[in-house]
Amino acid sequence: MSVQTAMSRDGIPEEISAINLVDTGTYLEHDMDAYWRRLRADHPLYWHPPADGTPGFWVVSRYADVMALYRDNQRLTSEKGNVLVTLLAGGDSAAGQMLAVTDGRRHKDLRNVMLKAFSPRALSKVAELVRVNARRMIADAVRRGEGDFAAEVASVIPLTTVGGLLGVPVKDHAYLLNLTKSSLSSDEADQAPEEAFLARNEILLYFSDLVAERRADPQDDVISTLTASDINGVPLTDQDIVFNCYSLILGGDETSRLTMIDSLYNLSREPEQWKRLKEGSVTLESATEEALRWATPAMNFGRTALVDIEIAGGTIKAGDVVTLWNTSANRDESVFDDPYVLDLGRSPNKHITFGYGPHFCLGAYLARVEVKEMLDAMRTFSNGIELTGEPRRIHSNLMAGMSTLPVRFLPDEAGLATAADG
Ligand code: HEM
Repeated sequence: MSVQTAMSRDGIPEEISAINLVDTGTYLEHDMDAYWRRLRADHPLYWHPPADGTPGFWVVSRYADVMALYRDNQRLTSEKGNVLVTLLAGGDSAAGQMLAVTDGRRHKDLRNVMLKAFSPRALSKVAELVRVNARRMIADAVRRGEGDFAAEVASVIPLTTVGGLLGVPVKDHAYLLNLTKSSLSSDEADQAPEEAFLARNEILLYFSDLVAERRADPQDDVISTLTASDINGVPLTDQDIVFNCYSLILGGDETSRLTMIDSLYNLSREPEQWKRLKEGSVTLESATEEALRWATPAMNFGRTALVDIEIAGGTIKAGDVVTLWNTSANRDESVFDDPYVLDLGRSPNKHITFGYGPHFCLGAYLARVEVKEMLDAMRTFSNGIELTGEPRRIHSNLMAGMSTLPVRFLPDEAGLATAADG
């Protein structure tokens, strides 16, 4: 094939223009590392053409540019959506009410209200709950010897964490877990979009009921903190609270789950890294940060430009959608030495797995606690992890990771003897 025929009309090579980032199958079928390397090197501001009836959008892949745009909430808005599905549909129905899709003064005020619910006292209570749960679940899983780590451990810890923070009764956790799974990504390639829509509505209805209960009978939890809060003397409405519960449960569940699954998968495949963790030659903190960089479960977020913006040698026009690819920024060779090497001792490790700037992840502390406690319990109770089957990858254009992870654990009997219930 001549160079001429390998190029599409606007000078973009076909191996780039053939990749459809909206299609959830793309991430399973293509060598995306090669794609991102190419974009970072040659097309740091790339116009993704319209595909499957959706409009075109900008793709930003370099670390410094992604950071600059995350930081810029003056010239970019989140109120027209912050994920592909809403951005390409032209808006988010929770704009101005749900933290992640609210801008300006209202965003600041709402974030401050929500931060009250994330007080050190509330967080230390939840962190302790995470530690106890992770140790118990992982000790049990190791004693059983074999199983699906995704279903038995990684699915349960995040929902217990956010559920504990929000005050969701334990009996409802499994119900919510199923709904969050179908509302964001999908285990199944052929899930209809209507199913995701229905799941989202069901979560909203669930929280409407819970808010009503907490208004009548406040407890020591986030929902009760929110029902008692106001912004400039105006109390939060039920809808404000419901949207933000929804955002916490969605933001906090799948991301952490996918990170834990990915971390264990890596440990099963990289004996040297497992050894460093097990022997304590790397700190749990640095192992956690590298697990987060490596997994980058939220591949991208996006914004809409309010004015023309010059970046990466081009212009994003007012009104255009621009997507920021964490997944690429976290492998940017100008920032990370050997970015494609998993190094649990990596330092510095300024990954942007949690975003950056005014919308920086509100749950970053809790997510870090979850991953750290999982790694700690794993190195205490197990002597090694072996895959017993092929994990299944999820279908999503927002999230990356696996929905199953069949494994066998080699028990560490001395460690298991220290488990509370052992
Ligand atoms: C925002 C990632 C865990 C709640 C964000 C953003 C990212 C992110 C990239 C920025 C979105 C944007 O700029 O548009 C992650 C990852 C997690 C995680 C990778 C786990 C590994 C959590 C947890 C919670 C949570 C556990 C709740 C307990 C939120 C909320 C926001 C947010 C409420 C919106 C903040 C704002 O707009 O001011 N998250 N998150 N996340 N995250 Fe997380």
